[in-house]
Amino acid sequence: MQVNGKNYQTIWVHADNNQIIQVIDQRKLPFEFEIIDLKTPVDAFVAIQNMTVRGAPLIGVTGAYGIYLGLIDANSESWKTSLFKNATYLKSARPTAVNLAILIDEIVAVLAECFSHESACALALEEATRLKRREIDWSESIGEYGCELIEAISISKNGEPVNILTHCNAGWLACIDWGTATAPIYKAFLYGIPVHVWVDETRPRNQGARLTAWELSHEGVPHTVIPDNAGGHLMQHGLVDLCIVGSDRTTSTGDVANKIGTYLKALAAYDNNIPFYVALPSSTIDFMMMDGVREIPIEQRDGEEVSHMEGELDNGLITKVRIVNPGSAVANYGFDVTPARYVTGLITERGICGANPADIFKLFPERGGREKKKG
Ligand code: MRU
Repeated sequence: MQVNGKNYQTIWVHADNNQIIQVIDQRKLPFEFEIIDLKTPVDAFVAIQNMTVRGAPLIGVTGAYGIYLGLIDANSESWKTSLFKNATYLKSARPTAVNLAILIDEIVAVLAECFSHESACALALEEATRLKRREIDWSESIGEYGCELIEAISISKNGEPVNILTHCNAGWLACIDWGTATAPIYKAFLYGIPVHVWVDETRPRNQGARLTAWELSHEGVPHTVIPDNAGGHLMQHGLVDLCIVGSDRTTSTGDVANKIGTYLKALAAYDNNIPFYVALPSSTIDFMMMDGVREIPIEQRDGEEVSHMEGELDNGLITKVRIVNPGSAVANYGFDVTPARYVTGLITERGICGANPADIFKLFPERGGREKKKG
């Protein structure tokens, strides 16, 4: 997608040195646009953990490139041992988004069949790049399917702008290109359907205010940033036509883990009869998991993300200030789980389905999980 009119993706191989992976440093946005180099699996692990890269699809692809960087680093006698060690290490960087484990397991399964270190290195680069390409295709497909929902609402409103509420950043920054929740919005905008996006600020890290708003600005999509607690009010007053959010892990039963605060938006949407869709690629579906509230591991992050806030002073200086009473305890749960009953549908790369096992496995019959095995 566009940054100052130039096309970017969130991760790529260095043009002059294929042993370096480059990413946009998302901690600095929207104030500074910086690209940083990843040269080792430790670099990839740290980038995922400190949220230089973030969003479920992107951390999955970064993990896959981390495996490649680990192989380059490895001793040609013991490369297989370090491959498995690095897989366990990289998977532990963040617990909630299942894409990380899924993509790492996928690339490791292919590499484990290699007979030589040299061929494993070449294949790792090829495979990580294939997984990246696949995520882009899936995002674009999600965009096309989701756009049909926006178009239908637009027709029912006689072409008045469709107001879409989104939470966190499930945009191209969280993926490689297009995004998940934003993909239908970008497609609708490209096709000339009038849209307006309500962007939840998304405390504590403000991915909405900082990243989604930045993305939408660069694409020219009309949007308004709102405090997290404003959504319910807007819904009660007919100002939201549709909610679309992303996901970090969705169970085979349709329970959706996403950025903290998503559940409350789903409850408000349910109470106001507003469709609440989750846009996600199949690399975010945990086909083996059935009970999201009990089983999905919820990341807890540093309390400083709650007690402090970062921003730009009028003189351009980036600074961090304390916003919580000194000495008060803080808690920082990164994600929550929206039970399937509040989800109108899942927008996937294969189409839109109900948030229930029958519909999910109908779209992905080859992925029969526990539910299927039982029957
Ligand atoms: O903690 P983050 O910023 O990585 O959380 C990201 C989200 O919750 C996104 O909504 C989710 O990963 C979907 S991304 C397409």
